[in-house]
This record gives sequence, structure tokens and C-alpha cells, in this order.
Amino acid sequence: MIGAAREGLPISITGLGCHVPERVVTNDELARYVDTSDEWIRTRTGIRERRIAAESEALSDLALPAARKALEQAGVRAVDVDLIIVATVTPDMAFPSTAALLADRLGAGDAGAYDLSAGCTGFMYALAQAYGMLAAGLAQRALVVGGDVLSRILDWSDRSTLVLFGDGAGAVVLEAVDDGGFLGFELGADGAGGAHLWLPGSGSRLFDDSSRHVKMNGPEVFKFATRVLVQSAAAVLHRCGIAIEDVDVYVPHQANVRIIDYATKKLGIPSDRVVINVDRYGNTSSGSIPLALADAQADGRLRPGSLVLMTGMGAGLTWGSALLRWTKETA
Ligand code: UT7
Repeated sequence: MIGAAREGLPISITGLGCHVPERVVTNDELARYVDTSDEWIRTRTGIRERRIAAESEALSDLALPAARKALEQAGVRAVDVDLIIVATVTPDMAFPSTAALLADRLGAGDAGAYDLSAGCTGFMYALAQAYGMLAAGLAQRALVVGGDVLSRILDWSDRSTLVLFGDGAGAVVLEAVDDGGFLGFELGADGAGGAHLWLPGSGSRLFDDSSRHVKMNGPEVFKFATRVLVQSAAAVLHRCGIAIEDVDVYVPHQANVRIIDYATKKLGIPSDRVVINVDRYGNTSSGSIPLALADAQADGRLRPGSLVLMTGMGAGLTWGSALLRWTKETA
């Protein structure tokens, strides 16, 4: 477990953007490929539909418009960004990194740029890392992207995974601000649980099954998720000396509405403070939290001074939380 409450320079999100593919795939459409039903998917997961990338679209194609929107909202020119981190498990390719490709397409050619892999928790890890780089004075303006094109690594004949995931990306700009900003982080990993959610054939380990399709032990990941969403949120709140009643906006990883409902009740957060969009996007992995943040902004919930609690969890198994005092007046 790593993380700390903040000391020193306030650093915050000053711009936010997201992008999803155009194609909407409903539960009924998936029922044409596998033995499932709209009723099962809605009642067991809360998902109604998801976005699926076109054949011509890779992660950088989703990240680019998201990043442009975030930069525009922050009023930051691409050329002034000096750090780009892309959190993903579905980069365009193993190398060059999607971050380097994105830097080039944005016109941020001099920025340090790399991809980061922490499963669905990637965006939380990347936020903490960018914060640390800025706080240490190693960078001045960071662009953090979380996104995945999981449809590429799903087995379209496996109902236990196919119905859960979708494609999408979100981006944020991090900069020093006058007040507010990140109050603290908490990150963790449990590699012993890694076998519950894995992608055989995706690296140097040889498997008999090298199909490169996501494999998941759903019930085990469900138990892990309900436990860590509560523990990680409680840990970051404790470190920052903040009471749960003071949280204005709760942005949990969007994997399953039953997991979110469990964590919300256990933490004691009123349901009107919880952001839920898993019904429209499914689980977009690293895209999940920035897409939910963008929804909270669109519906006017992110106001200057709002206290935002974000918690992610996913493959690794990993988890991560951040507490943020929203700084900027945004439309
Ligand atoms: O970012 C992290 C990524 N993953 C997650 O967060 C996933 C966490 N896990 C979950 O969300 C849930 O475990 C699932 C949604 C994956 C599964 O829900 P569940 O309530 O745990 O169902 P289950 O796996 O215990 O299966 C119950 C039944 C089984 O049938 P039998 O054995 O009772 O006859 C499954 O074969 O539901 C069946 N089933 C399905 N039926 C229709 C499993 N998937 C489907 C499906 N459609 N898509």
C-alpha cells in the first residue's frame, strides 16, 4: 500500500475530456452472439449498452479527441505539456507507446511520454504518478489519459466476459493551482489474486492457450471488488482526515452496479452523490473513472470546492483511490 496525504504545492485537474466510439451495442445485440439476455445483463450488472470501436479505431484514436478537449478546457497548449501518461491494457501496440504516438499527434513532441499498465486501476495509478512528478518539480503540466479498447481482446463467444466491457477514453490535465487540488492517494496490488483476471498470450510467458482473450473468474473478482472499494476509500479518507459525510461526489470504478451499490451503502454515501454510467458504457477499464468524471462535470456536480472521491480496482489485482478538492469553474 502506498500513498500519502498532501503536503506542499496544490495540484489539481484543470481540464477534462472524454471520447467514446460511435457504435452503440445493446444487450439484445450481444444475445445474437452468445447465450444471454437483456434481462440477465441488466439485473446482474446494470449494463444496458456499451460503445464498441470501429475496426479502423485504435486507442490513440479515442485518446486524441479526449486529450484535445481536456487541453482546451484547461486553456493549455499541447506544446506546453511536458508529461503524458496513458493508462491502458490495450495500447495501439506494445511499442511505440500510445503516449508517444499521442504526443506526436497532439503536437507535444518534447513531452516525456509513456504507457502505464495497472488493469482497470490504471487511471488512478497514472493520476498519482503525474501528481508525484509535478509535486517533485520534474514536470509542470501533465496530460493523463485512461482508456481501453477491450473489445479487441474479448472472446466474442464467451458470455462471462463479453457482456461486461466496452470501449472509451478520458483525459485530464494536471497543473499547479492556487488552492484545492489533490489531498491524497492510496494505491495497492495483490499479485496473488492475479490469476482471477488475466490475458494469456499477451507477453513473454508462453501459455498452451495463447488466444489473447480476457479470462476472468467473475465471482472472485466481485468479492475482491466489493472489499477493496470500501477499504481503499476508507484508507484515503483516514489519511486525509476527511469524514465520509464531507464527500460531495463519489466516482467508483464502473464495473457492475451491484458492486457500486454495495460499496456505496457500506461507506454510507448518499446515492445522489454517486456517479453511475455503467448502464451506458459497461466497464471501459482505464476509461471508466475519467468517463464518469466527465459525466459528473456535464451534469453540474463538479463545482469549485466539491470534494471528489475516486476509487478504481481491476486486474493485478490492483486498487487505488484519490481525494480531490475540485478547483476549477467549468461549464
Ligand atoms: O474491472 C474489474 C473487472 N471485472 C469485474 O468487476 C467483474 C466482477 N464480477 C461480476 O460483476 C459478476 O461476478 C458477474 C457479472 C461477472 C457474474 O455475475 P454473478 O452473479 O457472479 O454470476 P455467476 O458467475 O455466479 O453466474 C450465475 C449464473 C451461472 O449459471 P448457473 O451455473 O447458475 O446455471 C452462469 O453460467 O449465470 C450464468 N451466466 C450468464 N447467464 C446469462 C454467466 N454469465 C451470463 C450471461 N448471461 N452473460
